[in-house]
Amino acid sequence: MADQYAQNPVGTAPPTLPSLRWDEPPEGPVLVLLDQTRLPAEEVELVCTDVPALVRAIQTLAVRGAPLLGIAGAYGVALAAVRGYDVDEAVTLLESARPTAVNLGHGVRRAAAGYRTAVDKGADAEQAARAALVAARELHREDAEASARMAEHGLVLLDELLPGGGHRILTHCNTGALVSGGEGTAFAVALKAHRAGRLRRLWVDETRPLLQGARLTAFEAARNGMPYTLLTDNAAGSLFAAGEVDAVLIGADRIAADGSVANKVGSYPLAVLAKYHHVPFVVVAPTTTVDLSTPDGASIEVEQRPGQEVTEVTAPHVAGAGAGAGGLPVAPLGTQAYNPAFDVTPPDLVTAIVTEQGALSPVTGAGIAELCARSRQV
Ligand code: MRU
Repeated sequence: MADQYAQNPVGTAPPTLPSLRWDEPPEGPVLVLLDQTRLPAEEVELVCTDVPALVRAIQTLAVRGAPLLGIAGAYGVALAAVRGYDVDEAVTLLESARPTAVNLGHGVRRAAAGYRTAVDKGADAEQAARAALVAARELHREDAEASARMAEHGLVLLDELLPGGGHRILTHCNTGALVSGGEGTAFAVALKAHRAGRLRRLWVDETRPLLQGARLTAFEAARNGMPYTLLTDNAAGSLFAAGEVDAVLIGADRIAADGSVANKVGSYPLAVLAKYHHVPFVVVAPTTTVDLSTPDGASIEVEQRPGQEVTEVTAPHVAGAGAGAGGLPVAPLGTQAYNPAFDVTPPDLVTAIVTEQGALSPVTGAGIAELCARSRQV
């Protein structure tokens, strides 16, 4: 039998390309994305020259993950403004590109507010476009700072919850540098634990159907030299039963006012397993992921994705296959599939929520409101 603690063939180089960058070549400004559909086989950049291209990139998950969607949305508004497109139309298209991650709308509105404030003050088109870009860059920088603070708060919390050290952490989906202006959310905590010599193992859920865990988290863990082991999502139960999980760390796409957490589908079953096995279930997300206008979990819109993602294996990420590749059927032709992109974990299953403002435990509506109020004061 294979040893689940065997050393992986790790690299030690962090990803070479940023997940997103603004560029101004002679042909005009562009938003350049690291195409996440091609990882881990190839590090290929995707150049967006207009908002429809960025919307396609968001919908195909070339760019993804809540914080990065917010940053991409903000740069998308700047792109529209700089290139002389209709900013209101850009806002509408970008905000509705995906429905669950609240950061997307937040980022879009922030850059649009920068643009409109400048217009209201009498700025010309070029100055107003620059104001949108400044707002996007600010959000990008703030997200990187929030990421570093979440990692600090998160490791302090882990050390409190697990005084023995040698943490064995289970994570789901992908929450590292690929989704952030910095080193990520949940993954950043695990990375900090690793750098402090306190990560014994990162258990990586493969995260069906689009394999963000296998393709992206394993990629980031390997690049950072972390001890990690990949498992199928449905192996998590037996891993808990074997006493191999000390804590679960996940990110979030939206946190409602009552502390309900929407995250990648498969998070809720992990929370149930964690509760049964008396293992802490910790959510790590910036306060930009909290949506006080969403009162509870039932009010969170969960994105439903094409059934084809379940009935077929699509494989642009297989070496040499390229974009648009795949479509290998794994179910009889015509099979209907249930494919929600996210699920919702109620607050009573969440041990703590770690934000850049600190950790909240127990998770209550009042506590969530206070964290948000603190972040607005900064
Ligand atoms: O569909 P995705 O890949 O965009 O889903 C991403 C997730 O669910 C992440 O866990 C979440 O955005 C938190 S990332 C910090």
